[in-house]
Amino acid sequence: MTAPSHDLAARLRALPVFDLALPAFDPSGAPDDPALLFAEWLEEAIDHGVAEPHAMTISTIGTDGRPNARVLILKGIADGHWRFASSGLSVKGRELAATAAAALTFYWPARGRQIRVRGAVVAAEADVSAQDFLARGPAARAEALLARQSQPLVGELPELEVPPADLVAEHWTVYEVVADEVEFWQADAERRHVRLRYLREADGAGWTTERLWP
Ligand SMILES: Cc1cc2nc3c(=O)[nH]c(=O)nc-3n(C[C@H](O)[C@H](O)[C@H](O)COP(=O)(O)O)c2cc1C
Repeated sequence: MTAPSHDLAARLRALPVFDLALPAFDPSGAPDDPALLFAEWLEEAIDHGVAEPHAMTISTIGTDGRPNARVLILKGIADGHWRFASSGLSVKGRELAATAAAALTFYWPARGRQIRVRGAVVAAEADVSAQDFLARGPAARAEALLARQSQPLVGELPELEVPPADLVAEHWTVYEVVADEVEFWQADAERRHVRLRYLREADGAGWTTERLWP
């Protein structure tokens, strides 16, 4: 085991960032729809072996008005909506019921890429949530059926019985982020980072784009 550093700040300063071959990003060739560019970058990250590229930080607004954030798995993109799944009874579920908005953050260090998505959050159709629930493993279904996520755990985690294969937790929800703002950030070794932000047009039909200072 490494001894604890006496000068953590110096140790952190010495850590390399963007110290590897990074892809180029030319915003002039970007598609009109940010969901297409997201899919392109995600496929690229998968192809380059980025670990868990579908893990994202999702930020919500706490019922006390303070920000709250945690990592979740991206389930897919449907009709330009970023999908994730969780219990509607969880902390995030209650937060989303009070304020139906979220921000997603993806970071793929091996590609020097960050993507930020902001928008309103809606629940997918009930059968979409049911299908997602039924596709989970038995242990994950058993845990979700108990609906105890984020409650204080007293004692040891009990062994849970395998639930019937067709039993669906009603509170299990596939949520969709209806993006109105999506930013693509490409690191550059010389610190000439490239940022491209998409903003949904007021009529909801299309997108405008703008470059941002790094
Ligand atoms: C890589 C990773 C993936 C996760 N995926 C999910 C997920 O898809 N759904 C979920 O409810 N929690 C997931 N979690 C757990 C959440 O981060 C969080 O602990 C849990 O949802 C409780 O959050 P809440 O109390 O804010 O509701 C994941 C955690 C990690 C580290």
